[in-house]
Amino acid sequence: MATTPLSKLAYKTLQQGKAIAGLAHKELSTKLMEWVAPEAVPSIKSVTPDLMKDLRSAMSQLEERDWEEAQQGVYPETQLFDAPWLEWAGRYPQVWLDLPSTWKRQIERNVRDLPKKTDASLYPDYYLQNFHHQTDGYLSDHSAELYDLQVEILFNGTADAMRRRVLSPLKRGLNHFSECSPGSIRVLDIATGTGRTLQQIRAALPHAELIGNDLSEAYLRQANRWLNGGVNPLVQLIRANGESLPLADETVQGSTCVFLLHELPGKARQNVINEAWRVLEPGGIFVLADSVQLADSPQFSIAMENFRRVFHEPYYRDYIGDDIEARLQSAGFEAITAETHFMTRVWSARKPAVQTI
Ligand SMILES: C[S@@+](CC[C@H](N)C(=O)[O-])C[C@H]1O[C@@H](n2cnc3c(N)ncnc32)[C@H](O)[C@@H]1O
Repeated sequence: MATTPLSKLAYKTLQQGKAIAGLAHKELSTKLMEWVAPEAVPSIKSVTPDLMKDLRSAMSQLEERDWEEAQQGVYPETQLFDAPWLEWAGRYPQVWLDLPSTWKRQIERNVRDLPKKTDASLYPDYYLQNFHHQTDGYLSDHSAELYDLQVEILFNGTADAMRRRVLSPLKRGLNHFSECSPGSIRVLDIATGTGRTLQQIRAALPHAELIGNDLSEAYLRQANRWLNGGVNPLVQLIRANGESLPLADETVQGSTCVFLLHELPGKARQNVINEAWRVLEPGGIFVLADSVQLADSPQFSIAMENFRRVFHEPYYRDYIGDDIEARLQSAGFEAITAETHFMTRVWSARKPAVQTI
């Protein structure tokens, strides 16, 4: 798509449309829940006008950054408009039809309502839950088909813009390997889910070899449909725990991990960071993105508290107080940076080029 003055207007309009649709969906579904399943309504803290103002301002800064980085060539402008719109439109009624079973689980405080055929021995115990009260947890095609749309609604249409914030630090970090041919660069996305981040990385680094892992076969199937159905280079998808990756030491030059850490207990969080360090070649770059935390965004503490109350997020409270920089350092990373974009914190960290033992 050629950049025209209209492109920015189109982007802004799209984002506004998504924000309105997301807010309207949440407003309507809450009203319906109050009417049909009042026992499921969580008690939340009231959102003050100041908080609303801060949220709006942070969201508009995120969108401005998203637009600017496209203009700088970090990723093609087409990415700003990229989404499986037709599929999402077709799946939207399912989001509504799914609500009654979600409310039922909330009322019954049932957070282990998973498909009967689940082989529990394949997963760590912390994983076998209905995160966000999601039907089937992460363990069915039904869940995988609705996930992206649900996340877009949750973040009022900014989920992809927040994910894209890993691209600039990733590309900067990969400059370390500028003497290698672009095709020899391997990038791993840990806990890729349905592969939205991999899709964005492929647009930004079209020659790199891409790998994604996740514990959910169903989510990887969805990723496979979206990523490997066309003419673009194939992406390798592996069903594996991010705590023990089936990759040899020092075999990737870049790694990303988006929206995983807040769903892990502290020990598993450290294990994933240690694994990222192990598989990276010296000089390699690790970029992490997850929820903002109390230390960097105290003005959003009510929003964080409400998130935890509305959704089943058993490790979130621990996560928002966790020191991720200390975890990165303890794994051996250096040159750690962190920045905040709306509700997302992005850390980048380098594996030392020359290792001191
Ligand atoms: C909140 S989703 C984020 C998915 C994706 N990165 C995104 O940006 O949408 C969390 C994902 O982490 C996966 N997951 C959770 N624990 C994992 C683990 N220990 N190893 C690998 N994947 C894991 C889940 O299956 C799910 O796909």
